[in-house]
Amino acid sequence: MGVRIALIAALLLAGCENVGLAPNPAGTEAVARGRVAAERLGCGACHVIPGIWPAGTSGPSLANFRNRASIAGRQANRPDRLAEFLLDPAGTAMPRQPMSARDAADIAAFLHSAPQSAHAR
Ligand code: HEC
Repeated sequence: MGVRIALIAALLLAGCENVGLAPNPAGTEAVARGRVAAERLGCGACHVIPGIWPAGTSGPSLANFRNRASIAGRQANRPDRLAEFLLDPAGTAMPRQPMSARDAADIAAFLHSAPQSAHAR
């Protein structure tokens, strides 16, 4: 019994150590995936997004988007709401861009990331 408890404690400690070695890896990976997805889906055709080609202007600039209060003037600018908007921008001037829920969540993480604002013009 004592051995079992010691083993469980050791496994728990090992788990905690792994978290400490890699701070927030999921968040960083989502941001990186989001940048790639935004490029692949052609968001830059209509939007200025720092670091993404070609920086079109038929939609509003998304530079520093994390600092905006609202999404298309309709709802609070939170990453989860942004992902929902990207999946279905119905009722706004933005045409729906077919994408997976994961693409939407990743792009929302990217648009809310600090490096994105650091590259802003
Ligand atoms: C064909 C042009 C077009 C494409 C492609 C496009 N958008 Fe848009 N987008 C718009 C327009 C126009 C609006 C303004 C909607 C409104 O305010 O009614 C908009 C609005 C937005 C907003 C809200 C902006 C604000 O000021 O609140 C976000 C965020 C956004 N788009 C992200 C994206 C992302 C991410 C992609 C790629 C997956 C994308 N858009 C692709 C035209 C486009």
